[in-house]
Amino acid sequence: MNTLAKLRLHDLAPPQDDFLAAVLDGLGRARKTLPCKFFYDEAGSALFDAICDTPEYYPTRTELGILTAAAGDIADLAGRGGVLVEYGSGSSRKTRLLLDALAPALYMPIDISREHMLGACHTLVQDYPALHLMAVCADYTRPLRLPAVARGGQRRLAFFPGSSIGNFAPLEALRFLKNVAQQLATDDGFLIGVDLKKDPAILNAAYNDAAGVTAAFNLNLLARCNRELGADFDLDAFAHRAFYNEAAGRIEMHLESTREQRVEIAGQRFGFAAGETIHTENSYKYRPDEFRHLAVQAGFEPQQLWTDVDTLFGVLYLRRR
Ligand code: AVI
Repeated sequence: MNTLAKLRLHDLAPPQDDFLAAVLDGLGRARKTLPCKFFYDEAGSALFDAICDTPEYYPTRTELGILTAAAGDIADLAGRGGVLVEYGSGSSRKTRLLLDALAPALYMPIDISREHMLGACHTLVQDYPALHLMAVCADYTRPLRLPAVARGGQRRLAFFPGSSIGNFAPLEALRFLKNVAQQLATDDGFLIGVDLKKDPAILNAAYNDAAGVTAAFNLNLLARCNRELGADFDLDAFAHRAFYNEAAGRIEMHLESTREQRVEIAGQRFGFAAGETIHTENSYKYRPDEFRHLAVQAGFEPQQLWTDVDTLFGVLYLRRR
C-alpha cells in the first residue's frame, strides 16, 4: 500500500486562536494574565524542547524512563494491535515507545496544529510500514467526536503524556478527563503522565533552571507580542518569576515588571506598576490519591500507577468504566 493510503486526515477545522483578542483581554484585567497555550510558536516550541534537556527539568526524562520500564506491562493491560489515540502531535520518543510495545493497527493523533501533526505523521509512516494513521485536526480541550473507524473488537488506548494535564485548572482537568472518557468504550484504557507533589525545592529548581532557558521561554511570550502584534514590550524591563504555591498545589509562572512602565498594543495602552506581574502559567502537581479521585469522578477506574524511584513523576493506567 502506498504512503498516502496509510495516512488519512480527519479535519474538524477547529477555530484558530485569536492571539490579539486574548492579549487585549488578559492585559486588561485587574490581575494581568496571558494564556499559556500561546507559549508555543516556533521559537517557544524550540525553547520548550531545550527546557526538557535542562538538568533541573526532570519530568520529560523521568516519564520516558518510567514508560521504557513499563512498556511491556502497559501492552499487557491495554492489549496489542488496537488503536492508539494520542492527545498531542506524536513527534516524541514516548509515542514511538508505545508504537513499538503495542504494535497498534491504527495510530490516531489529535492536534490543533495540522501542519505540525502531518509532518510528524509522515515520518512515522516511513518508520512504521505496517502502521495506519488517522490524523485528527481538532482542539482536544473541547468535546469532540473521534472518526468512526471499523473497530472490529479492537480496544483503544488514549495517551496524554508530559503532565500537560497539570496546565489545566483542576475543574478544566476534570472536564478534559470526562471528554476523553466519552471518546472511549468500556474497558478501553487511558495512559496519562502526571507530575507529583514533592519537595518544593525540586519544583522551584525545575522552573528556574540555571541556564535561563525557562526564563527565555516565558519572556518569548512578550517577544511574540512584539513580533506578531507590533507591541512595544521592553524585554529587559520584565523578569521571569516562577515559584511553587503550596496552598494551590501548583507552580506559577509570572513576568514581573521591574519598573513602572506603559506598553502599547494595537493602539491600546497598558500601565504596569513596578513589581506588577503578568500571570502566564500554572502547572498543577498532584498526590497519587488526588489524581485517582479526579479520574474516578470522570468515569475511570485507576488500575496501575508506575513511578520512578524518587516518586517524582507518575504514569497512570486508567480503565474506562
Ligand atoms: C507543557 N507543560 C507540561 C510544562 C509544565 O511543566 O507545566 C510547560 C513548562 N513550563 C515551564 N516549563 C515547562
